Amino acid sequence: MADQPTTGHSANFRKGKSDGRLLNATFERNIKPVTDGLLSFLGDAGGNALEIGSGTGQHVCAFSASIPNLTWTPSEPDAIHRASIDAWRKHLNSPARTAIGIDAAANWAGQAAVGQIAPLTLVHSMNVIHIAPFAVARGIITGAGQTLQGGGFLSFYGPFKEAGRHTGEGNRQFDQGLRADNPDWGVRDVIAVTKLAESHGLMFHDLIEMPSNNRLLVYRRG
Ligand SMILES: C[S@@+](CC[C@H](N)C(=O)[O-])C[C@H]1O[C@@H](n2cnc3c(N)ncnc32)[C@H](O)[C@@H]1O
Repeated sequence: MADQPTTGHSANFRKGKSDGRLLNATFERNIKPVTDGLLSFLGDAGGNALEIGSGTGQHVCAFSASIPNLTWTPSEPDAIHRASIDAWRKHLNSPARTAIGIDAAANWAGQAAVGQIAPLTLVHSMNVIHIAPFAVARGIITGAGQTLQGGGFLSFYGPFKEAGRHTGEGNRQFDQGLRADNPDWGVRDVIAVTKLAESHGLMFHDLIEMPSNNRLLVYRRG
């Protein structure tokens, strides 16, 4: 079963401490498999990593500790989430940079803050593209095509359909709930995402199985 409940894109964030830190109930469960998955293709690559839709900020702080060869920049369109990310950075004394405001559906590659960290080694996004209109997946892919260096990676974590089929009954029900909440949301198909990625110069690299029928879907810039 996918990581989120079916209502609202951040319905599973809880209030943490009075310093603004929010807590994601699924963080403890997915941080190790996702980190291991990222390391499996990144190896010891250095450079800059940008996370799209960083949510509470717990993941990006953990990545910056476990994958220190990369300099991590979180991003979020939601100001309360950005405050949480920065509170986590402060609390953990994390080397991750200050969160920047990115709406992935917009032309984010041209933002001054992105210009300062591009060309990028990695664009990573977790649990975002199924809880948003497809324009967000398109925006992440378009921006990644413009900002990744040759050999750089784009990775998506979350539930995916494979050749039109859900990878589990829980994901089918989750997808139904998402579409009931918003007809523009829904679990994406690896084939549709790959077709779009390839049209932006990003070649399929790997599809890594994750717990709870999730996947880490990876593309590489040629
Ligand atoms: C379910 S949360 C996932 C957060 C985090 N990545 C995680 O896995 O815990 C989805 C996140 O996507 C963000 N989001 C929604 N629309 C977005 C957009 N257009 N561009 C970038 N992020 C967006 C939300 O603000 C929210 O923090």
